[in-house]
Formats: sequence, structure tokens, C-alpha cells
Amino acid sequence: MRTTKFVLCFILLVGVQVSSTDLDKALESFIASTIGKSSGGSNSDAIQNLFNLYKKEFNRKTQTTNEEKLRLDSFSASLNTLVDHHRQGEKAYTLGLNNHSDWTQDELTKLNGVRVPQGNILTTNAKAGERFTTWDGKIATGKTSLPTSYDYTTRVASGTNVPVVQPIKDQGNCGSCYTFAFISLLEFQYAVQLKASQSLSEQQMVDCSTKDNGCNGGYFTNTFSYILSNLWQVNTESYYPYKAVKNTCVFKSTGPEVKYGSLLYSTVTPNNAAAMQQALVNYGPLWVSVFAGNSSASYQQILSRFGGYKSGIWQPSGCPTSLASTNHAVVIVGYGVDATTNIPYWKVRNSWGTSWGEAGYFRIQSGVNMCGIESGPFYIAKPA
Ligand SMILES: *[C@@H]1O[C@H](CO)[C@@H](O)[C@H](O)[C@H]1NC(C)=O
Ligand SMILES: *[C@@H]1O[C@H](CO)[C@@H](O)[C@H](O)[C@H]1NC(C)=O
Repeated sequence: MRTTKFVLCFILLVGVQVSSTDLDKALESFIASTIGKSSGGSNSDAIQNLFNLYKKEFNRKTQTTNEEKLRLDSFSASLNTLVDHHRQGEKAYTLGLNNHSDWTQDELTKLNGVRVPQGNILTTNAKAGERFTTWDGKIATGKTSLPTSYDYTTRVASGTNVPVVQPIKDQGNCGSCYTFAFISLLEFQYAVQLKASQSLSEQQMVDCSTKDNGCNGGYFTNTFSYILSNLWQVNTESYYPYKAVKNTCVFKSTGPEVKYGSLLYSTVTPNNAAAMQQALVNYGPLWVSVFAGNSSASYQQILSRFGGYKSGIWQPSGCPTSLASTNHAVVIVGYGVDATTNIPYWKVRNSWGTSWGEAGYFRIQSGVNMCGIESGPFYIAKPA
């Protein structure tokens, strides 16, 4: 009976995926072929065939025999995770193949570049009584009634058709997620304040923010103190392009740059989804950190499932929730309630390219501090 349901599901999937690639189709047959078998991933010819299609779709160059074996092994491991997930019948989210499917566990772990500072984290740089301007230029007046869903990716700066969120970027093999999340907030400020679209330089933060550790992680408050000491100046992405390695700081105040007047930041009360929704709607996207798995035995599964996340509401079991456990920085750009599962979620921007997740975004269950995502949010705004 269970098998029948599975097969039906599979036929439906094939039916709707009209534009699916050879790799998608081969993956679907591979998953179907594992049904009823005791363990997935035992057919090495089928895996090799899938891997060849994968290399073609993701433009992998011919490599040394050792490198080839390393990539095939990593790919098989990702495939195993995917098949296991499918087998367990998990409905809330799906896994797939993406640009990270042949990465090693070390390479995946390296992407998690959040280093939560020890001790007190300053909750704001605003002076007592200093007020913030909302993203659409009003003075915030405490609580307003909240819409049931919200999504900055579909919004424009008021009175313009300038999108307030830039296209998804890719941090490469560098633990610089914290700079991507930070720059997303500055790009948002650029759009709403200057009414123009501008991609800004993550590499500047990687090279110049000395309290952070370049490709080995950092944290919101450190990056903020750098940008404050740099008098709010940020070069553009095209002038100071991304290299995915730390180099000497070559920021130039004479280059094409953005000079913000001054900016304030604030944390939002932790573990309070309503307060986060309010801050999001009032001020803009939120910089947050989440636990994205690591190489410890009990968390490898989360690491590899998050790496393969394709769609749906991310809600792995056994995820730690403390701020100290979080290790990956991302940006909340919206919220809503999933129509099929009824699960309330955050819509979150990642920096792993568009082949990952829902065109580079993911949705994660909200209201339960899933993987610590509600444990330490920050926003940036203009002073009133
Ligand atoms: C995809 O991964 C490869 C390494 O396997 C990396 O060199 C490349 O920059 C990545 N590209 C994208 C668009 O993510
Ligand atoms: C993995 O994360 C857990 C939970 O935060 C932590 O206790 C453990 O030390 C981490 N392991 C590694 C290898 O980072």
C-alpha cells in the first residue's frame, strides 16, 4: 500500500516537471529504483551515471583521478542523504542536487562563518531616546497591525520601481556568510534611502573588517563597528569585486562608493516571533544566525540535509537553539504561512547561489526558534 502511494507521487512529480533537466529525470528514476530496497546508493553504475550528468549540468572540469574520486564520494554521500530523506517520507521539505552536492563535509562546514562573540553583545548603537526611521521614511510609532504575510523580495522603494533586495549572491568556498548578510542590509538601505539599486562590496568587509576573521567567520556587531569607523563608506561590488579569499584591504574613499549619513542598529527581543515580524515590517530585512549543522557525529545529518535543501519548510529534528550554537548568517526577508502544511515560516535569503534551495532562498518554521534563528536578530535603520 505504501509503495503504491510512493509510485503515484512519483508519477505526479514527473507530470508537473515539464522543464526538468536530464539530471532531474535521472534522479527521479534513481529514487524510484531504490524503493523497496533495503539501502539506497548500492548501485554504483547508476550513481556514476548520475554523477556524469551532474558534472555536465554544473560545469565540472576534468580532474585528477584523486580529485575525481573525492568528488564522486562526496556526491554519493549527498545522494544517500537525499534518498534517506525521501525514504523517511518527510513532507515539510525536499532535498535535491545543487552546486554543493560534490563538496566535502569540510568544505560545507567552512561556509558556516558565524563566530558569536563571548560575553555581552551590545544591543544597539542608538543613544537613549534616539528614534529610528521606518524603511518607507516614517517615524516608527511602536506597534502597527501586522499583515499575515510579507515579502521584501517583491517590494520596491516607495514612489519608485526600484527593488529593495538585490539578486542572490554566492559566497564561494569562504566563511564570509556574515558579510553577505550584512551587505544585504546595506543594499536595502541604499535602495530605500537613495531610491536606486546598487550591489555593494562584501570583499571590502572580508579584507578590511579587522575584528572579523575574513573567510573564517565574523559577527554583525564587528562588521558594524568597522563600517562605523570607515565613516559609513562602502565601495560598489563592481569596483571592489568578490574573490572568496582574504586579501589586503584596498578600500578607496575616492572610488565609486556609498556614503550613508549615519546608521543605527538594534537587536530584537530574542525568541519573540511577533517582535521580529514587527521589526521586519517597520525597518527592513533582519540579519540572523542559524545553526546549519557541523561535523560532530550528531549534527552531520543536519549539515548534509541543509546543504541539499531544495524546497519547503526547513525544520530538522534535533537542531540546537541557543545563540551560542548558531554558526551561519542569513537574512530574513519575509514571513507567511505555508498553504499546504499550514506551518508558519520565515522566508530567508542565503548566499549559496541560486541552484541551492528555492532560487537561493529557504523557508524555515517560525515561532519555535528553529535552529536558533530567533535567538539574535539585528536590523539597521536611519536615525529619525
Ligand atoms: C560551484 O562550486 C564550484 C566548486 O565545486 C565553485 O568553484 C563555483 O564557484 C560554484 N559556483 C556557483 C555559481 O555556486
Ligand atoms: C557542533 O555544534 C554543537 C552544538 O552547538 C557543538 O556543541 C559542537 O561543539 C559543534 N561541533 C563542532 C565540531 O564544531
